Amino acid sequence: MPAIAIIGAQWGDEGKGKATDLLGSRVDYVVKFNGGNNAGHTVVVGDEKYALHLLPSGILTPGCTPVIGNGVVVDLAVLFHELEDLEARGVDTGRLRVSANAHVIADYNRTLDKVTERFLGSRRIGTTGRGIGPTYADKMNRIGIRIQDIFDEKILRQKVEGVLDLKAQVLTKIYNRRPATVDETVDELLAFADRLAPMVCDTGLLLNQALDRGETVLLEAGQATLLDVDHGTYPFVTSSSATSGGACTGSGIPPTRLGQVIGIVKAYTTRVGEGPFPTELHDDAGEHLRKVGAEYGTTTGRPRRCGWYDAVIARYAARVNGVTDFVLTKLDVLTGLERVPVCVAYDVDGTRHDEMPVNQSDFHHAVPIYEHLDGWWEDISGARTFEDLPANAQRYVEAVEAMSGARISAVGVGPSRAATVVRHELI
Ligand code: IMP
Repeated sequence: MPAIAIIGAQWGDEGKGKATDLLGSRVDYVVKFNGGNNAGHTVVVGDEKYALHLLPSGILTPGCTPVIGNGVVVDLAVLFHELEDLEARGVDTGRLRVSANAHVIADYNRTLDKVTERFLGSRRIGTTGRGIGPTYADKMNRIGIRIQDIFDEKILRQKVEGVLDLKAQVLTKIYNRRPATVDETVDELLAFADRLAPMVCDTGLLLNQALDRGETVLLEAGQATLLDVDHGTYPFVTSSSATSGGACTGSGIPPTRLGQVIGIVKAYTTRVGEGPFPTELHDDAGEHLRKVGAEYGTTTGRPRRCGWYDAVIARYAARVNGVTDFVLTKLDVLTGLERVPVCVAYDVDGTRHDEMPVNQSDFHHAVPIYEHLDGWWEDISGARTFEDLPANAQRYVEAVEAMSGARISAVGVGPSRAATVVRHELI
C-alpha cells in the first residue's frame, strides 16, 4: 500500500481536516510533515467540534497512530496543552509519536516573529506570530534546537548558549526587548522531557516499516500550495514546504512510495495574512461568503479574505503537487447565488495568462477573467450522491473539474463528516 498525501490547493483553510478525517478509519498513520501551530484544522465528529493547531487530525480516530514528522516545528507548551485538552474530553492520545529530528520553537523565536512583523509595518507578511518563520530560519542556519537535544542537557545548554548569544544581541540592540536567559530557556524545554520521552522515535523508520507491512500512511499538509516557501506567493508565504515534495522531506518517506496526492480545494477562495489574491472581493459578495462560510481563522480568529474560485491556481496546484484527486469543499456555501463567477485566466496589462504569471509583480495586478455559471437555490446539505445535487450544482462541479487539472472525487456539502458526496472512493 503506497503512502497518500493530502495537500491544500489554495492559501489554506480548504477543509483538509475534514478530508483527512473522512479517510481516517481506513488509515493506520496520519503524519503532519510541515508547519507548526500556525495551522488550524476544525474537525466535527458527531456533535463535538475540535480545533486542532499542532496535532494531526488523525488523533481523533481510534486505532490510528498520529505522527509529528521531522519537517514540523514544535511548540512544546502548545503540544501538551492540546493533548491535555483532548484527554479531558475523553480522546485517547497515547499513540502519538514525535520525530527526534523535529525542531523546537523557543521563546526567542516567538518574540522575534512578533517584533519583526511590527518592524516591517506595511511590508509585514501577516504571520500567525507563533515563531514559525524564525524557527525554520534557525534550522536552515544550523542553529536550531531539535527534539532530541532535550534529552541531552549538556548539548541542549551548549546549543541554547550559542543561539542566545546571537538572538540576545538582535533582541536587545534592534528591538529593545529583554530575551529569556539561557537558564530560563533550558529549564522551559527540560520541563517537557519526561512527558515527551515515550513519544519520541525515528518516525521515518516507523513509517517506512508500516508501509512495508502494507499499512496505510496518510501525510497531511499544514498550510497550502500558495503558501509553500518555494511554490507559493513568496514572500507572502509560510516558511515550510507545504506541497507533496515537502511530504517526503518532512516525513522520511521517499517519493517512490507516494501513490496518491489528494488536493483539497474550496468551492471559492480564502486567504489570511497579506499578499496577492486576484479574485478577492471587497464588496457584499465577499462579506456574504465570509458570513455563510464562517470564514474566520481557527488559529488566530482573523476574518479571512474571500473571493471566487480561481481555476488558474487550482491547475497550478494540480501540477506542482501531482494531484490525483481533488476534494471540493464547502459547495453548500455557494447555494442561493443567481450566477457563480469562476476565474478561468488572468488579464495582465492586456495580455491573457492561462497559467500563473512568471513574475510575482504581474500576479499582484492580475485581473481575473470570469466565466459565470448558473447558480442553484435548493438546500444541498443532505445530498450524498452526485445525482442528489441540483442540476446546476452538478454543472458547477463538472465545469470546475474540467478547468482544474484533476478529477473531483468528493464534494463537501456541510460541516459534518457525513455531509459529503463521494464520486470516486479515495482509497
Ligand atoms: P506563518 O506561517 O505564521 O509564518 O505565516 C505566514 C503566512 O501564512 C501568513 O499569511 C499566514 O496567515 C499564513 N498561514 C499560516 N498558517 C496558515 C493556515 O493554516 N491557514 C491559512 N494561512 C496560514
